[in-house]
Amino acid sequence: DVEYVNIRNSMEVIIKTPEEIDKMRELGRLAAEALDYIGPFVQSGVTTEAIDKLIHDYHINVQGGYPAPLNYGNPPYPKSCCTSVNHVICHGIPNDKPLKEGDVINIDVTIKKDGFHGDSSRMFAVGTISPQSQRLIDVTHEAMMAAIDVVKPGATLGDVGYACQQVAESAGYSVVQEFCGHGIGRGFHEAPQVLHYGQKGQGLKLEAGMIFTIEPMINQGKRHLRILPDGWTAVTKDRSLSAQWEHEVLVTETGYEILTISPATGKP
Ligand code: MF3
Ligand code: CO
Ligand code: CO
Repeated sequence: DVEYVNIRNSMEVIIKTPEEIDKMRELGRLAAEALDYIGPFVQSGVTTEAIDKLIHDYHINVQGGYPAPLNYGNPPYPKSCCTSVNHVICHGIPNDKPLKEGDVINIDVTIKKDGFHGDSSRMFAVGTISPQSQRLIDVTHEAMMAAIDVVKPGATLGDVGYACQQVAESAGYSVVQEFCGHGIGRGFHEAPQVLHYGQKGQGLKLEAGMIFTIEPMINQGKRHLRILPDGWTAVTKDRSLSAQWEHEVLVTETGYEILTISPATGKP
């Protein structure tokens, strides 16, 4: 559809109408529900391919939508979600390797339904994990929440990135720079690009009706990454552990609303 192609390619940030915001609330909830659903399956011995199949079928058969990652981009992404284990930063492709006790995994789902997208990711622990792994997961969540908490009309994307970077670097971690959050709506990846590092007062000024993701990738070691020959999988160059969380945020008249809160726990 020509109109949607133009919207997707737009460099302009789309201010959502009240009707679009309602749809995006619904899509955000669906993404969160898919993550709630998959949680109990994340166990030692389970393959990420099995997780992918469950997510694929849940989006289609239970939620009446479609997994947006499938065939997305170039080279076309071959699976329905991203499963990033241990030193994989993001875009890990589900495979036949079983998860093992002590692994940490980010599962990133994006559902498309009625022309709109819902995108969220969380960290999951496989059995008992080390205190160092748990700390990275917790600090990464804290960095995301600190970034979300500065969102309001008149704040800037630099404020958002700065808040995130402060938390991560104060804990001795590094912020990945090659990937960012993004506007989302009818397009999977719309303007603006939301960097997870930055300087206060710099960058785009936020306005009510904007919807974008905040999805910091934080490394235990150095920030540098390498893309595997599959064209997607991003891993830490030093093979240190990496964590990521992702929420969608709506800029409201007074602040923000998180669109991807877990209906199961009511918590971000
Ligand atoms: N869900 C990812 C994001 O947060 C994008 C994944 S693109 C894919 O933006 F093709 F790898 F699925
Ligand atoms: Co995502
Ligand atoms: Co995203």
